[in-house]
Amino acid sequence: MGWLDGYVALVTGGASGIGRAVVKRFIAEGCTGVGVMVRSAEQVDGLVAEFGDKVVVSVGDVRSPADNVAAVEATVARFGKLDTLVGNAGVWDFFARLEKMSTEQVAESFDEIFGVNVKGYVLAASAAAPHLRASGGSMIFTLSNSAFYAGGGGPLYVASKHAGVGLIKQLAYEFAPDVRVNGVAPGGTVTPLRGPASLGKQEKRLSEIPGFEDSVANAMPLKFIAQPEDHTGHYVLLASKANSRATTAAIIQSDGGWEIRPMR
Ligand SMILES: NC(=O)c1ccc[n+]([C@@H]2O[C@H](COP(=O)([O-])OP(=O)(O)OC[C@H]3O[C@@H](n4cnc5c(N)ncnc54)[C@H](O)[C@@H]3O)[C@@H](O)[C@H]2O)c1
Repeated sequence: MGWLDGYVALVTGGASGIGRAVVKRFIAEGCTGVGVMVRSAEQVDGLVAEFGDKVVVSVGDVRSPADNVAAVEATVARFGKLDTLVGNAGVWDFFARLEKMSTEQVAESFDEIFGVNVKGYVLAASAAAPHLRASGGSMIFTLSNSAFYAGGGGPLYVASKHAGVGLIKQLAYEFAPDVRVNGVAPGGTVTPLRGPASLGKQEKRLSEIPGFEDSVANAMPLKFIAQPEDHTGHYVLLASKANSRATTAAIIQSDGGWEIRPMR
C-alpha cells in the first residue's frame, strides 16, 4: 500500500534529475501510471526500459502550448484520468550576472529562461486544469531556494523562480476549492541541470561545476548536498489527498537550511 495508490500523474522534465526521481517514487507509492514529458527523443528509451507500461512518455517543449496539451492528453488516454501535475522542467543560468551579458543576450536569455521556468509551468497548468478539476487533484511546481533568496543564480533564474511563488499563490486562489496548488523548493542538488542556449550553455551541466558539491554542502547548515531522491517525499505528501488535503498555496523548502545560513 502506497500513499498514491491508484493515482495518475504527469511530470514535466521527468527524464533526469529531480523529475525522474519523482517519477520513480510516485510509481513506488502506487501510481497506476505516470505521464512523463521530456525534451528529446533520446530521453524516451531509458524511461521505458526502467518503468515499462507504468509510464507514457511525450516528447515536447514545455514552451509549446500544443506540446503541453499533447502530454496531458497522452496521459489521460493511457491511464484514464489525471490526479497530479508536477511542473518541473527547468533551466539554470549558471550565475550569469547582468553586466556580463550584452543587452541583446539579456533579452534572449530572459525569453528562454522565463519561457521554460515560468511559461512552461503556466501552460502545463492550463492544459491539465480541466482534468484536475474533474479528479479533485493537485498541482505541484518545482521551485528553488532561488524562489526566496538571492545568490543561487543570476537575476534571470532568481526572478523566474520568484515568479513561481506568485504563480502558485494565484493558481491556488483560482482553483480552490477543487484543485490544490503547492510547490517544493529544493536547494543545490546533484543533477545534470543545464543552462540556456541563448548563453551558449545548453551543454553545460550544474553537476560538472568544479567544487560544486563541496561548496553547496559547506554552505548549508545541514552540511550535505542533496540527491534528487531527497526531495521526493515532499511531492508524495503534497500529492496525497489523504495526507495533505488541507494544504494549498504552500511551498516546502528542501534546501538544507538556506534560511538559517550563518553570516560567516
Ligand atoms: N539541481 C539543483 O541544484 C536545483 C536546485 C533548485 C531547483 N532546481 C529545479 O529543479 C527542477 C529540475 O531540475 P534538475 O535539477 O532535476 O535538472 P535536470 O536538468 O535533470 O531536469 C530538468 C529537465 O527539464 C527538461 N527540460 C529543460 N528544458 C525543457 C524544455 N524546454 N521542454 C521540455 N523539457 C525541458 C530537461 O530535459 C531535463 O530533463 C528545475 O525546475 C530546477 O530549476 C534544481
